[in-house]
Amino acid sequence: MSRISAAITATGAYVPEFVLTNSMLEKMVDTSDEWILTRTGIKERRILKDEGKGSSFLAINAAKNLITKNSIDPRTIDLVIVATATPDMKAASTASFTATQIGAINAFSFDMDSACSGFLFGMSTAASYIESGKYSKVLLIGADKMSSIVNYKDRETCIIFGDGAGAALFERNDEGLGLIDEYLKTDGNGREFLQATYGGSSYKITPEVLLKGGQFAFQEGKTVFKNAVFNMANATSKIMERNNLRKDDIQWLAPHQANKRIINAIAERMGLKAEKVMMNIKKYGNTTSATLPLLLSDYESRLKKGDTVIFTAFGGGFSWGSIYLKWAYTQNQKN
Ligand code: UT7
Repeated sequence: MSRISAAITATGAYVPEFVLTNSMLEKMVDTSDEWILTRTGIKERRILKDEGKGSSFLAINAAKNLITKNSIDPRTIDLVIVATATPDMKAASTASFTATQIGAINAFSFDMDSACSGFLFGMSTAASYIESGKYSKVLLIGADKMSSIVNYKDRETCIIFGDGAGAALFERNDEGLGLIDEYLKTDGNGREFLQATYGGSSYKITPEVLLKGGQFAFQEGKTVFKNAVFNMANATSKIMERNNLRKDDIQWLAPHQANKRIINAIAERMGLKAEKVMMNIKKYGNTTSATLPLLLSDYESRLKKGDTVIFTAFGGGFSWGSIYLKWAYTQNQKN
């Protein structure tokens, strides 16, 4: 009897209409299009401008895109997980609102937060529910309205982040396709270098905090950069080694989109040519929990059944890891 594995069977995506370009940022902070493009690979990012709309708005639209594109009855979904670092509110999950709004009336739901690794860790969670045989359809959504925690006076963070959401449906697979292996890690010593501090239960927002912009995300870019390269390269090499994967066995690398130079460094260490590396950072920037599913949606038409895809991410916490997945369908051959 073959093992039950959990495969991605559909994807969806949503980005808001408003485009924040590098030339617009030149007018907001002391930066230049040339600096941003050469140091990060980002040209523009999307921003959700509508007052009162948060990450659930992005998540709902990404899920609806997946549901419509694939003619899925939302009442058949068992579980909705929303990976987000920017939930609509502190309590009452973004996922429960999202599930109801998309008509997943028979599902239970919850949020997961592991900053930029949220979707990666969510893949492991979604897959485990399927592999256990408990549930048949798990919808994982990565959604972040990063503009809600970005300080548009801080040139080291505001140039990087954007808003967006992506979704992936996990279902049982009996052909040995889907999630094969994972290597996931966290290290709380990294927390001080990348965080949105105030507003949490240990760090109260006060008028003094607001004056200093303490409600916004902060990062020590250089430290994050070095740790991101080291740890993502280490995680992917662990996955390659223990699954006897050589560079020629890998069709795609799906890396978190935080900086083109980080992505290139990892690909180089894995020995992968640029054409095997999924990249859309130029148009979306770093959308935190949404980078991986936005890649899947953008590359879906090029992915083929049986392709080996290596995912990797790094983010606040620190948190990072790598997942080895065998892609389960060819889009134009889907029934
Ligand atoms: O998803 C996980 C979250 N974040 C990340 O993964 C981000 C990781 N870090 C990075 O991507 C990069 O560290 C940054 C893009 C944030 C910064 O790039 P860098 O190449 O590490 O620049 P740097 O911090 O070493 O700064 C080099 C220079 C400095 O000027 P001086 O001291 O050499 O005169 C900075 O002040 O560039 C300056 N600088 C800028 N100049 C123009 C920093 N930000 C900017 C900017 N525009 N936006």
